[in-house]
Amino acid sequence: MLSTLQKSSIFSFARLASTVTLHIDGVKSIEAPVGVRLDKVLKEQLPGFKNSCNGGAVCAKCVCEFGADDFAKLPAMGEDEADCLEDVELEGTNRLTCQMKVTSDMDGVHLKY
Ligand code: FES
Repeated sequence: MLSTLQKSSIFSFARLASTVTLHIDGVKSIEAPVGVRLDKVLKEQLPGFKNSCNGGAVCAKCVCEFGADDFAKLPAMGEDEADCLEDVELEGTNRLTCQMKVTSDMDGVHLKY
């Protein structure tokens, strides 16, 4: 039989393993489920966030700027994303959120949209 503390620890671990916390524009934090495309999470939780081509890597509306320290925590950039960012002349720590799924490595990441 599990103690209350053991049950609490198991549930806390399960929650942490399935969601991460993202910090938005330095004023808000949201919970994001691991494995879900990031633009879909942001569209559901942030008023005004747009993903006009629904993940086509064409519109660049879903672009977010990530904190410099957080950039290395993001999944690798694919060719379609690199081409789109080059077309709209965005560099630095900008990424198309439609081109990545939320990973556990992204817990605590800071981003602006
Ligand atoms: S939704 Fe259009 S580029 Fe991401």
